[in-house]
Amino acid sequence: MRNVYLDYSATTPVKEEVLQAMIPYFTENFGNPSSLYSGGLNSKAAIDKARNQLADLINARPDEIFFTGSGTEADNWVLQGVADAMRKKGKGNHIITTKIEHHAILHTCEYLQTQGFEVTCLDVESDGRIDPAKLEKAITDKTILVSIMLVNNEVGTIQDIRELAGIARRHKILFHTDAVQALGNVPIDVNVLGVDFLSMSAHKIYGPKGMGALFIRKGNRLSNFIHGGAQEMGKRAGTENLPGIVGFGKAAEIAKRDFDKHVKHSQEVRDYLLKRITEEIPDVEINGTMKYRHPGNLNVTFDFIEGESLLILLDMKGISISTGSACSSKSLKPSHVLDAMGVPWEKIHGTVRMTVGDFTTKDDVDYVVNELKNIVIRLREISPINHEKGW
Ligand SMILES: Cc1ncc(COP(=O)(O)O)c(C=O)c1O
Repeated sequence: MRNVYLDYSATTPVKEEVLQAMIPYFTENFGNPSSLYSGGLNSKAAIDKARNQLADLINARPDEIFFTGSGTEADNWVLQGVADAMRKKGKGNHIITTKIEHHAILHTCEYLQTQGFEVTCLDVESDGRIDPAKLEKAITDKTILVSIMLVNNEVGTIQDIRELAGIARRHKILFHTDAVQALGNVPIDVNVLGVDFLSMSAHKIYGPKGMGALFIRKGNRLSNFIHGGAQEMGKRAGTENLPGIVGFGKAAEIAKRDFDKHVKHSQEVRDYLLKRITEEIPDVEINGTMKYRHPGNLNVTFDFIEGESLLILLDMKGISISTGSACSSKSLKPSHVLDAMGVPWEKIHGTVRMTVGDFTTKDDVDYVVNELKNIVIRLREISPINHEKGW
């Protein structure tokens, strides 16, 4: 059976160049980077190189890059680390974030609420964007940190982080952005954006899973999250994931080298998918703005059907898509992102996310749309809610 992967925002395959760069660090170059003999020094040099490669991708200094075990860890570290450091300094206890963040942010904020911190979650407009005036209004004299994602993982909306971070800076408040979905897909320059912290993850840019990083602008203090040895400049203990770090570095180098090609290809294939779906399947809606959007993201509502059923029937045809976080829990809780954008509950249940990447072809899109058309017709025929019957 043919396989078509349309879930690049969930994860990406490791590129051959990345794999080849990693392999020696599982085998002959296995020295502990903390060891003082040449095997260890070689490993340390490989980590330094990767740190440079990642710094280069976001225009940071290498000593502002800290490797972590995931994007989730980077998000946890910055929120808990800033909260803890500020509490020790006797500063405020208020954090501002948004309703559309990844759970790595939202659930960490919920945890911080149990520790006495106050959290404001900003509303979003119907296109998924944050109104800067709402941020300005939410700031109090107790606010210590603002955390707003650069690109949303469900609808692909790109925020104007430069403007939002500028507001925080004027109020002398630290600003973090979760750039896990943005890395390699939108231009990132930490100095242009004006952020203090930025989270990244390797497996979204054709690197290995279980590898993340946090950019910490020089001079910013946050408490350590993992205690132990002196790794990562004494800020994040634990023997380094050497092959993972080397792979992340290589993936970052490729992301920079091939940025234009990657974005152009993703956009072309995504737009072709968009065109075919909207022209050939009735009663579909695209969620989120097309103007400020991740180049490979499509988030589509198919009226009168259930996204989960669509996912399963497409899977039987070898096609992988996602329902975002819609129905991800047993409680059938709808996607918090679409909910925040005001998408009605019944439409959220008919929504799927399709994300394309470097290995998706127009031929793949043809295969997907042909299968999709048949499946949508079948599901609508058996749906208790359809045109004739109404909702
Ligand atoms: C926006 C965003 N933040 C954080 C994460 C978590 O990254 P990781 O899978 O490396 O823990 C993801 C993963 O999907 C994401 O999309």
